[in-house]
This record gives sequence, C-alpha cells and structure tokens, in this order.
Amino acid sequence: MSASQELEKDATNFALEAVRLDKQGAKGMAITMYQKAIESLLKLVQLYPEYSLNKVYIQRAIAYQERIKALQGAVTFFAPQPEVREGEDAKATEGGKSSYEELIVHEKPSVKWEEVVGLDPAKRAVKEAIVYPVQRPDLFPLGWPRGILLFGPPGCGKTLLAAAVATEIDATFLSIDAASIMSKWLGEAEQNVAKLFGSTRKSAQEGKPAIVFIDELDSLMGKHMSEVGGEVRVRNQFLKEMDGIVDKGKNLYIYVIGATNKPWDLDWAFIRRFQKRILVPLPDHPTRLMMLKLYTRHLQLATDVDLHELARLSEGFSGSDIRDVCQSAQLKLIGEFFESGQATDKKATPGSLTMDDFRQTLEERKPSVSLDMLSLYTRWSEAFKAL
Ligand SMILES: Nc1ncnc2c1ncn2[C@@H]1O[C@H](COP(=O)(O)OP(=O)(O)O)[C@@H](O)[C@H]1O
Ligand SMILES: [Mg+2]
Repeated sequence: MSASQELEKDATNFALEAVRLDKQGAKGMAITMYQKAIESLLKLVQLYPEYSLNKVYIQRAIAYQERIKALQGAVTFFAPQPEVREGEDAKATEGGKSSYEELIVHEKPSVKWEEVVGLDPAKRAVKEAIVYPVQRPDLFPLGWPRGILLFGPPGCGKTLLAAAVATEIDATFLSIDAASIMSKWLGEAEQNVAKLFGSTRKSAQEGKPAIVFIDELDSLMGKHMSEVGGEVRVRNQFLKEMDGIVDKGKNLYIYVIGATNKPWDLDWAFIRRFQKRILVPLPDHPTRLMMLKLYTRHLQLATDVDLHELARLSEGFSGSDIRDVCQSAQLKLIGEFFESGQATDKKATPGSLTMDDFRQTLEERKPSVSLDMLSLYTRWSEAFKAL
C-alpha cells in the first residue's frame, strides 16, 4: 500500500471508531479518535498537495472538528447524535441502547507517549503502576496499585494519557464513559458493570493485562445521586468490583483508570479506592511551547511565526485549546484556498501560516478554564492527591 493510501485508511479507521464511540456515548475517547482522524487527513493533504480528493478531506476534517466542539460543549447525559457519518453505520443498536460488546475499543487509539506533551509526573506514575509491574512482576513483591485517578481541568490530557497506556501495553482495553453507563445501558447497568469486570478477570487469567478506563467519572460517582435511576446500585456494584480486583487478584493485571474534571463531586468511598491520584494540570509556558511545536510540525509556517510568543499569548489555555488554535488556523487557510478557486491550478499552494493568522485565531477564543476553577483543583489536589 502506498503512503497516501495508508494515511487514508488510517483516517477512515479512526473516524469509524470515533463515530462508534460517539454513539456509545464515550465522549472523551470519541474526541481522541476524531482528533486522530483529523491529524491523518491534514498530514495527507500536506504531503500530497496535488491530490484531487483534498477538498473532500478538508471538508471531512472540518466536520470532525465541529463534532469535537459539540462534544466538548455537551452537557453530560446528552444523548449523542453524530452528524458525521462514515459509510456504513457502526452496528445498529436497538432503541439507541448500546450493547455491552460495544464498550471495547477495537481500534487501538495509537497514541504514543511523545504525543502526550508534558505531564511527566502523571506519565511516570502511570508507568510505575501499570507498565513496569506488567514487565517485571517479580520486582513488586508488595503488589502495586490497581486504581488510578486522573483529575484536572478539561482538555489537558487525561483521556489522551489513558489512550497512550492502551497503545503502549498489549492489554485488553475497555473504555466506558460513566455518563453513558446510565443513559445507554438503561436497566442493565448493574449487570453490565459486573460483566465488564468479569471479562477483565477472564482476560487477566489468560495472562493478558486488562484496563478498565472510566471517563467522566463524576457523572456516575457523584455525591448527589438519586435512588430512582438505580445509580446507587450501579455505584455499589463498582465499589464491590474494585475491591475484588485488589483483594483476590494479587497477581492479576487488572487496572481501573478513572478520569474526572470534577474530583470534588466524588465521594470518599470512591476516592479511596484509587490508591494513586494524579493531577493533570494546565500546561505551563514550556509545555505550551512543546504543544505548539507538536501541533505545527506538519504545517508550513511563515518566517514571522514566533512560537515562544504564541506560548506566552496562550497563557491559561488547555492542550485542547492550543491544538484547536493550530488546527483552526490551518483549516481556515486551506478552506479559503479552495473557496477562492485557486486550487484548480495544480501549481498553486495555499501558502504559509503567518503570525497574524495565529493571533487572530487566538483572539477569537478565551481560555476554557477560569482562575476560580484552577484554585479549586489546587485545593482539592492538596487535600487528596496520592502519588
Ligand atoms: N498534554 C497534552 N499533550 C498533547 N495534546 C494534548 C494534551 N492535552 C490535551 N491535548 C489535546 O487535546 C485533546 C483533548 O484532550 P483530552 O485528553 O481529551 O483532555 P481531558 O481528558 O483531560 O479532558 C487531545 O486529544 C489532544 O489533541
Ligand atoms: Mg477526557
């Protein structure tokens, strides 16, 4: 297969997986996969500027980006209605109810550690807890933690980090968005939670590590639950299962990674079952610079583009905000190129992104995390973090 066909296949697979996860309600993972699809498409257009399908690719990339925005802005418990459809629908579900099997991430997210910028303490903690014990269990006579809680402001890499873990070790990876457990599984949530842990045990007994990733944990494990929807029973089932993997499975490789933007909504019964609790913070200046380098690496930049200055201007922005600034600027440039009709001239190119393009995109948005929110994270972290 040629390199361009390879990229196109990647883009299609990521998009299919994204749509599937989106339908299932696994918001965070769906965003990660849409993101991967956009990256493959942009790379394709960049490497083969003369390709006749480029216009279609850009339109697709824009559609995925819009879907990401919608998902990021979506209130939890919002039933997903993906506008973006890729060829054949993911297995039809009756009455919108997701079957248990749909939880498993089929297509490995293929996120490399280097793509997760900064977050060194978080990466180290995850490696110590998961990667090393799997490689050399003999070096951990006292066991190792099975529950890891990632908390911090939205868009800073919690889901991305979990995807990197899934890519890194050959493990059964079950990803579930806590909000969708209740809304999608309807009356079967409790049984499905039991089934979820049952299949991780089976995988682990067969010698393959298993990771259960629960995104947006706060929406299920919050302090304010109603008895009506069966949330309390589902939560208790979770607690029971989590105790099970710590007690019985001395040598079983079963892990639960939880992620939340609202750690203060979790109750103590739940918090204490995650022996490792790790803050995934907003990027500082050097980290923002690395992110800008990462997200502009395939783009053509004019000589006046000063990434240090952009890192300074993007103070308070999350990783997701920064990625979005870079991609929006690029999509706008290429979009205009096609709109203007210049693209029909095979020798014409869209040109380079200038400092003004970035400035303009930056000015159009505010940081998505407020200062008040930040101090809440620091306070919670001081009280509850456990490295
Ligand atoms: N630390 C980071 N390094 C690189 N990219 C990041 C980072 N944090 C966020 N991003 C970008 O933003 C997107 C959303 O991040 P995500 O991991 O879903 O955030 P969270 O789960 O913390 O809300 C990622 O897919 C990635 O493109
Ligand atoms: Mg997330």
